[in-house]
Amino acid sequence: MEMASVWLLVLVFFSETCNVLAEGDPERETLISFKKSLENPRVLFSWNGKTPHCNWVGVTCELGRVVSLSLPALFLKAPLSPSLFSLPSSVPSELGELTQLETLELGLNFFTGKIPPELGKLKQLKTLDISGNALTGTLPSQLGELTQLQFLDLGNNLLSGSLPVTLLTNLQSLTSLDVSNNSLSGSIPSEIGNLKNLTDLYLGPLPEELSKLKSLSKLDLSYNPLKCQIPKSIGKLHNLSILNLVYTELNGSIPAEIGKCKNLKTFDVFFQFIDWVIA
Ligand SMILES: *[C@@H]1O[C@H](CO)[C@@H](O)[C@H](O)[C@H]1NC(C)=O
Ligand SMILES: *[C@@H]1O[C@H](CO)[C@@H](O)[C@H](O)[C@H]1NC(C)=O
Ligand SMILES: *[C@@H]1O[C@H](CO)[C@@H](O)[C@H](O)[C@H]1NC(C)=O
Ligand SMILES: *[C@@H]1O[C@H](CO)[C@@H](O)[C@H](O)[C@H]1NC(C)=O
Repeated sequence: MEMASVWLLVLVFFSETCNVLAEGDPERETLISFKKSLENPRVLFSWNGKTPHCNWVGVTCELGRVVSLSLPALFLKAPLSPSLFSLPSSVPSELGELTQLETLELGLNFFTGKIPPELGKLKQLKTLDISGNALTGTLPSQLGELTQLQFLDLGNNLLSGSLPVTLLTNLQSLTSLDVSNNSLSGSIPSEIGNLKNLTDLYLGPLPEELSKLKSLSKLDLSYNPLKCQIPKSIGKLHNLSILNLVYTELNGSIPAEIGKCKNLKTFDVFFQFIDWVIA
């Protein structure tokens, strides 16, 4: 290792140690109030007075500032309160708001309630994953203030309303956007065309109820970047004669049940970016 890097490491270590041991660090207070809002779960036992907060489970610091909070799949069960973003009055807000946070991963827990609009204050966020919870309400337009975001996963929740246009006009660094398996309504705003760097877009699923359309004979999903799965119930569409999946980027294989669509004559899966297995 070069001498310069060694010195940098020493410096980082030194400044981290200094900062985290300072009692009453505003970011530490913020984390403690967040833990309280979760009713002090046992999995966060390392979040205690004796340990520097940069060493707490799920917390990563750089130069003494919290840059990542990653607590996926820990059975955390609480309203996703704004406690991370709006602080106990003792904390100076410009310091306590975890403004250096680049990664916030709270997926696969049991968070309830609405997405706090205060999330929009975490201006440095690059990764926001709150998927797989039980979040309700609409997507706050303030999410559109997170202009550094590259990865946004809101999938597998109970969110409703439409995709805010601000999300699609401002978040131009997005490479991955997942809002699948919610109860979103409305059409996809044309502003989606602004997300030039997007490589992954998840908007599904195709509802199981599709199978109720017994008279359906043509199903054209072409040129929709759906990235979702074809429900097995498609086999109930006995009258389906044309299924066009060209350029749909469906995720997953085409279910074998499609064989039950006895009338299927045209089945276009040209130029698909899926694995080609007929399961
Ligand atoms: C949809 O989200 C709910 C809630 O998180 C989850 O229980 C369910 O398994 C998800 N469904 C799919 C198909 O992923
Ligand atoms: C899009 O990606 C390119 C190449 O990775 C990068 O240089 C550019 O900064 C990105 N654009 C935005 C708005 O993030
Ligand atoms: C399926 O197609 C046949 C022939 O066109 C038609 O007679 C029948 O009513 C259709 N079935 C349904 C459920 O629409
Ligand atoms: C397909 O979806 C599954 C479940 O959501 C996910 O784990 C997987 O990464 C996805 N595959 C692709 C190719 O996007």
